[in-house]
Amino acid sequence: MSAGTGGSKYVVRPAARGDVLPLLDLLEAVASEGRWIGTEAPVDRVARRRQISETVEGGERAARFVADAGGALVGNLWIDLRTYGVGDLGMLVAQEWRRRGVGSALMEAGLAWTRAAGAHKLVLQAWPHNLGALALYRKFGFVQEGLLRRHYPRRNGELWDAVMMGLVLDEHTPGSSIS
Ligand SMILES: CC(C)(COP(=O)(O)OP(=O)(O)OC[C@H]1O[C@@H](n2cnc3c(N)ncnc32)[C@H](O)[C@@H]1OP(=O)(O)O)[C@@H](O)C(=O)NCCC(=O)NCCS
Repeated sequence: MSAGTGGSKYVVRPAARGDVLPLLDLLEAVASEGRWIGTEAPVDRVARRRQISETVEGGERAARFVADAGGALVGNLWIDLRTYGVGDLGMLVAQEWRRRGVGSALMEAGLAWTRAAGAHKLVLQAWPHNLGALALYRKFGFVQEGLLRRHYPRRNGELWDAVMMGLVLDEHTPGSSIS
């Protein structure tokens, strides 16, 4: 679907059944960094394996793309489409592969899928300190729509804020006519 160049060769493709365990390992590795994603280590591998398996089979309402570097999975993006046409997006890239275009390539695949699915909007949440993720999302047109204050309990006892971002794909359908 999309390929890096030079020493950064990878392809972005839809996830397949055989990707479930490597995706679980990737999730665990990023969770172990302890600062970027909602999932915290130690990861419940049984529950997560089931969840990833379900979304790999996605159907029309979910998509999961992977960045595959010669058989090693180095990135993952998933979208769950709600019944009312809004997609919930999450993504991660292996630490040693960041800032090499993998996240952008995944986002392009995710956006193409979302448009083809007829969704009118994508939404996501990010930690306020995750400046790299926020920059990537802004680059693709996402804007901040809100801030969830002291919203997510962390295992260390803290309550973290979360930035809510959205990307509207349909600017033509009229908004509310009620004044
Ligand atoms: C956020 C993440 C997915 C970005 O993926 P990536 O492959 O590094 O992104 P790209 O290389 O495609 O970067 C695209 C652009 O995003 C911005 N960006 C990405 N990382 C950045 C950083 N650390 N600092 C500043 N800008 C950054 C830049 O504008 C960059 O373009 P440039 O490299 O030409 O300047 C990746 O850093 C990651 O997986 N982080 C850990 C998990 C995570 O935070 N997931 C998202 C949770 S909300």
